[in-house]
Amino acid sequence: MLTKEEEAMLNGEMGEGVQKAMEIIVALGKIYNAKELIKVESAHISGVSYKNLGDEGLEFLEEFASMGVKTIVEATLNPAGMDMESWEELGFSREFAEKQTRIVKAYERMGVKATCTCTPYLIGNKPKFGQHIAWSESSAIIYANSILGARTNRESGISALASAITGRTAKYGLHLDENRLADYIVRVKCDVKGVSDFGALGYLIGKIVRDKVPYITGIKIADLDELKALGASMAASGAVGLFHMENITPETKIKKMIKDHAEEIEIENLKEAYETLNYDIREIDVVSIGCPHASIEEIRKVAYMIKGRKVKSQLWITTSRRIYDEAKRQGLLEIINEAGGKVIRDTCIVVAPIEELGFKTLATNSAKMATLSPSHSKVKVRFGSLEDCIKAALSGVWNDN
Ligand code: F3S
Repeated sequence: MLTKEEEAMLNGEMGEGVQKAMEIIVALGKIYNAKELIKVESAHISGVSYKNLGDEGLEFLEEFASMGVKTIVEATLNPAGMDMESWEELGFSREFAEKQTRIVKAYERMGVKATCTCTPYLIGNKPKFGQHIAWSESSAIIYANSILGARTNRESGISALASAITGRTAKYGLHLDENRLADYIVRVKCDVKGVSDFGALGYLIGKIVRDKVPYITGIKIADLDELKALGASMAASGAVGLFHMENITPETKIKKMIKDHAEEIEIENLKEAYETLNYDIREIDVVSIGCPHASIEEIRKVAYMIKGRKVKSQLWITTSRRIYDEAKRQGLLEIINEAGGKVIRDTCIVVAPIEELGFKTLATNSAKMATLSPSHSKVKVRFGSLEDCIKAALSGVWNDN
């Protein structure tokens, strides 16, 4: 059932662009049997890299923007295919840069903030507990649902944009209480320490539970970077949109978040994840830290580890513009640059056309990146701890011992 205002949007009374956006929301509502639409507080929009969108996507966005549509709620943008400022010195082609710039400008004309990050929650688009939002970008969705307790389905870039323009989404899926209860209880029986271990755990859980909700027990302590890595890999190896972690994620502190007949599984160790995600390679062309985009704490850790030393392979730390500026202010950028590393804004190894930059091998502490980059970026991967990755950056080779 639509309100009068929603009917008006659908009938074209607020312009053709708004009508098109409302048609998308209503169509999704029909597919998923939603009884009504709900207002959203914010949107986060993926589908930004020219590498993924191509000319067709670029033309669609420019055409949509030329209809004069404007976002009516806070809307942020996912990473683009390049650092929007330093693309030339990083080796991106002018043709790619021009088209990428047109895409970001089209979004800006619609009122979307050109944040170009997959961690909008670290730079101000941080929904509150219980708020309804419409986000795309699987790692941001799972973070918003699980760690912040906000409510979003796994939106596509286009449906999130439609929500930003109409301020609405269809009420189904993870917006409803009953769908936020866990289908699986996952008992973790091994030590899980650091971003790569949490990523490995997420990889294993995502493979098992696919698009269902897991309730994780056995973890006593986890910091936000570790939880960010856990969710990102779970959403990449499976299609998980929400997880609970006993006594850690907010909804578990309020009520029992488990279905009556939830299936129980145990994770005894993380070996399978490390084995599956590692290729048998030694030479490392590029080390990638910051998937999802690095927090200031992660950048600080890297800076301390490479201070006064020199990297042999390329070292890319990918982050948002805002965190980059903070790293600069704190003097971390200078330390990293002096060691030969690069802090790169607006993009990441997966959405940038790194094949064109000649990278064939990659080391990362992100299970999500290790899962996606072989197919998306045609590279062979080493996956391990931050310490292992920094050692590889300093020596140019991956050492198993
Ligand atoms: Fe973000 Fe790129 Fe990873 S968009 S989650 S850094 S694959």
